[in-house]
Amino acid sequence: MTERVLRGRVLTFRRRPEGVGDHSAYEWYEDGAVHIRDGLIVATGDFAVVAPAGVPVTDHRPHLITAGFIDAHLHFPQGQIVASWGAQLLDWLNTYTFPAETRFADPAHANRMAGLFYDLLLRNGTTTASAFCSVHPASVVAYFGEAEKRGMRMLGGKVLMDRNAPEALQDTPQTGYDDSKALIARWHGKGRALYAISPRFAITSTPAQMEAAQALIAEHPECHVQTHLSENRDEIAFACSLYPQADGYLDIYARYGMLGPKALLGHAIHLSDRERDVIAETGSHAVHCPTSNLFLGSGLFDEAALAAKGATSGIATDIGAGMSWSMLRTGGAAYAIAQLQGRSLDPLSGFWWITRGNADVLGLTDRIGTLEAGTEADLVVLDSRATPEQALRMEAAQDLKDELFSLLILGDDRSVVETYVAGTPSRPR
Ligand code: GUN
Ligand code: ZN
Repeated sequence: MTERVLRGRVLTFRRRPEGVGDHSAYEWYEDGAVHIRDGLIVATGDFAVVAPAGVPVTDHRPHLITAGFIDAHLHFPQGQIVASWGAQLLDWLNTYTFPAETRFADPAHANRMAGLFYDLLLRNGTTTASAFCSVHPASVVAYFGEAEKRGMRMLGGKVLMDRNAPEALQDTPQTGYDDSKALIARWHGKGRALYAISPRFAITSTPAQMEAAQALIAEHPECHVQTHLSENRDEIAFACSLYPQADGYLDIYARYGMLGPKALLGHAIHLSDRERDVIAETGSHAVHCPTSNLFLGSGLFDEAALAAKGATSGIATDIGAGMSWSMLRTGGAAYAIAQLQGRSLDPLSGFWWITRGNADVLGLTDRIGTLEAGTEADLVVLDSRATPEQALRMEAAQDLKDELFSLLILGDDRSVVETYVAGTPSRPR
């Protein structure tokens, strides 16, 4: 049995805040504690109340303790193409992405990249993510194998793609189905791994492959489904030309049974009002990728328009089109995009989104995303004064809202003092 108490300034969310004054949306303990035993949270509250005598205490004061960050969409094989210059989506895929993913046929390369990938996630305070692996089953083995070594709750799957990509990156409807099936049997529910069936997007799958994906989804309702939707105008036109019978891009996925509460639709920028209705009615989730959408010039995701329909959206780095591995930076970019739309994202909602909000979208709030008793002890410890510019800003900070906002705008991996995975300190030094 391993047991410890973390002491610090503790923040956890009960629900989405309705603004900075919505104090009942969260719990805040200025001298707080999280009591952990065997990888699970036993209790969270005031230190004087929840810290039992005799249990070792790790004192993180004056730092903040929150649930670990969750990244709802990124690409395992794209770490080396972050910051690749001068292209928009379709050119960027052909010029940079597909060549990089081709190298993941080599298990030695995939294994080395997996080590570096998890080092970067944990350095940035991210304890759960949903990733697209490459088309090669070996990339999924490297991805979940390394997560298992680190005890992390991770979602992911091999991309299904059987056209409009280099030969070396194509599967077939049958091999894509068989390989996914075998990977689900090997990994889904093994330790903390969760498999996500991953047809890359309509452009790279033939109708025959979409039918195979539909069969997989029907046979494995326990698995998530992830894809890309309406990211870029040329992409939308190309996808719709390949499926002329569909009534728009989203309808392609609807026709193949892909929508529902486990569906994660990356980007979902250029949507019609009807498409927003369908996302809400099916309980599907769009995933906002703010730094990626700016980087590729894709457009501005309209979270409020989806929320008005009752749809809940995730938020993600989208590495390698994303500009940062940090969910703090990602939240800051979502604020800037909301500003361009004449709206705002308040700091509490920003922190809710990268923790409990994403857990809600993944349907995993009973396990991750909060500091509630009985959930898995994935936490991050944050120093709001980690850099000179943060320390300067914090001299003038008035309250928790100012502190959280300075972390979203100025914070990154340097703000992360420690990352706990299932109660174990795991941030690489
Ligand atoms: N659409 C299909 N594949 C990808 C990808 O790898 N990255 C992004 N940003 N969009 C995609
Ligand atoms: Zn993506």
